[in-house]
Amino acid sequence: MCIRDRIIGELGERYEIADWIANWQLSVWQDRIQLVRLRRDIYVTPDESTHGMWSSRWLFVLAAAGSAVGLGNIWKFPYIAGENGGGVFVVAYLFCVALVGIPVMVAEVLIGRQGRQSPINSMRLLVQQSEGSKAWSLIGWAGVAAGFLILSFYSVIAGWGLYYIGELASGGFTGVDGNTATQALAALHSNPILMAVFHTVFMGITIFIVARGVVSGLERAIRWLMPLLFVLLIVLLGYGIASGGFAEGFDFMFALRWESLSFDGLLVALGHAAFTLSIGMGAIMAYGAYVPSSVSITRTVMTIAMLDTLVALIAGLAIFSIVFANGLEPGSGPGLMFVTVPLAFGQMPLGALFGGIFFILVSFAAITSAISLTEPAIAFLVEEYDASRSRVAVGLGIACWLLGLASVFSFNIWSDVYVVGEKTVFDSIDYLTANIMLPLGALFIALFAGYVLPRVTVMSQLGITSESAMAIWTVALRVVAPLGILAVFLYTIWPSG
Ligand code: PFF
Repeated sequence: MCIRDRIIGELGERYEIADWIANWQLSVWQDRIQLVRLRRDIYVTPDESTHGMWSSRWLFVLAAAGSAVGLGNIWKFPYIAGENGGGVFVVAYLFCVALVGIPVMVAEVLIGRQGRQSPINSMRLLVQQSEGSKAWSLIGWAGVAAGFLILSFYSVIAGWGLYYIGELASGGFTGVDGNTATQALAALHSNPILMAVFHTVFMGITIFIVARGVVSGLERAIRWLMPLLFVLLIVLLGYGIASGGFAEGFDFMFALRWESLSFDGLLVALGHAAFTLSIGMGAIMAYGAYVPSSVSITRTVMTIAMLDTLVALIAGLAIFSIVFANGLEPGSGPGLMFVTVPLAFGQMPLGALFGGIFFILVSFAAITSAISLTEPAIAFLVEEYDASRSRVAVGLGIACWLLGLASVFSFNIWSDVYVVGEKTVFDSIDYLTANIMLPLGALFIALFAGYVLPRVTVMSQLGITSESAMAIWTVALRVVAPLGILAVFLYTIWPSG
């Protein structure tokens, strides 16, 4: 009897052995795996999640890209690049995406697919399987908290986007100059009721979709709207090039002016790499649970990360071209996109139409990200209390909406209420989540996947069959990603910083 049949015979009754063991994986590894080890390492991996499944690899790419591409790329990346002096910041961000973001994203999808449940329960299960400390499950809990905090302010900014749809489509920005566009945004900021209304609308739409279920709710919409957003970004870039500010914009984004590197800037770059890829809080882990077993995780993650980075770079180039062509200030803060984009469309033929469409698409990109922010919490509550998805979604939405009001007020009646240092509620939640919670989440996910997960689990999930591929994975997760994150943290809190 060959070793394969012996293992199946011996374990088959107690464990439902995953496909790969019965098939090709085992034949590659049969010489190296000892029976004893195998017993401990092999666990049932259900083929499907109870929450639903993506119908194909492409739909997972779209959903994960829908989570990754959002306000982070179009609104946040340009403004923080502007605040942190451009070039060096952008390069630091690209390094963080490659060295930390991609490995951690692979780890999240892997953990999600192995656990097939909400991040909290997937982590619990994998901790049990790996005989690791229960403390690792905290990764799941921290992720739920981060998602809740992020969504509270994300919805407020997305609300600005909704408001701008009407403003642009009605021709309100036709032919305006930089000053007028800046004042229009200031007028919105000084009006808490208007901001609260649009925050409410955005949260309402998000919760409505979430209540219907991620898989069926998302698939249809994403298929068309994401590619359309991409096309309109190219139109915006085309305008940026035509406006004569492209060379300066390009230089600002890519020329390395070392003097502009600040201690905090590096942390912001790392935090943004996590934020923009939606990693470090379990959103991608939750989506990973719905990925069919046949999909190649590594290839898919590369595609998602590349799409996300491309969108950010195109948005940045377009926005900075407009900034320099119009003598605006690159470091003007969170309002940057809401001044430059209306200004550009206001000067274009058919600008009202295209501008309106642009903000519809930005809002859409924000919705697909917001949905993923809720998924870890919703999936967990449904599993834990056997509650209906819609009830849980509404409860979460209301709580998050309430907290969001504090961010609304940060721009007006509470603009001088500081929580940490000189930071308003909005600034504090943004800083805490993006720059601390997500990088720490990413650090612990890397350590868990690198040190605790059984080798056999990793190899089967990633379809790794060679020692050299396994070595790359091991070094990336055990050394490169954790040290990268720790180095940035230490650099930031270093006394001279
Ligand atoms: N990646 C999203 C963006 O760039 O807008 C924001 C985000 C979504 C962050 C989901 C974190 C997350 F889990």
